[in-house]
Amino acid sequence: MAPINPLDDIVVTPDPRLRTECAPIEVIDDEVRALAERMLRDMYAAEGCGLAAPQVGELRQIVVIDCDYGPDSDPNPYVLINPRVVETSEELYEFDEGCLSFPGLTCHISRPAHVVVEALNLDGVLMRYEARSNLMSVCLQHEIDHLHGITMMDHLPAAERMQALREVTEALAAGARPGDTHRPE
Ligand code: NI
Repeated sequence: MAPINPLDDIVVTPDPRLRTECAPIEVIDDEVRALAERMLRDMYAAEGCGLAAPQVGELRQIVVIDCDYGPDSDPNPYVLINPRVVETSEELYEFDEGCLSFPGLTCHISRPAHVVVEALNLDGVLMRYEARSNLMSVCLQHEIDHLHGITMMDHLPAAERMQALREVTEALAAGARPGDTHRPE
């Protein structure tokens, strides 16, 4: 049973489930559909643009993404089941990333600019997603990383990672919640 407050449903660092390889989904049944609904609810509640199953404690290969939703636009949710990156560019793109599992932390990260992803949708249809140098290209890679126990912190050089670890630890101690991008005052 999921807790009443969706923010309490989101797993935060250093929970070991964020470091665990997730299992592919064999059958898209009511349980998987309910999981997708729960993840979308949590993501919108925390005002995030993506959420991966281990972030709600489920070690299965499913992510939800909505890079369009905002004050002036309707929800445009994607559900990606067993997603995999099939193509990336040499060219890189830099972005200040946040993560609902790392409240109060922003990481400046460089990733391939162009990415092609294949995944099943909730109807079991194989879909192809392509994005370049935008929030979607970052989000696809960030969320798929989560399914393999990789977080945005792993993309930082060692020295910056230590600093980021201190920042998130302090932010959590100060009461930061999923979706906060800065340490609470
Ligand atoms: Ni994340």
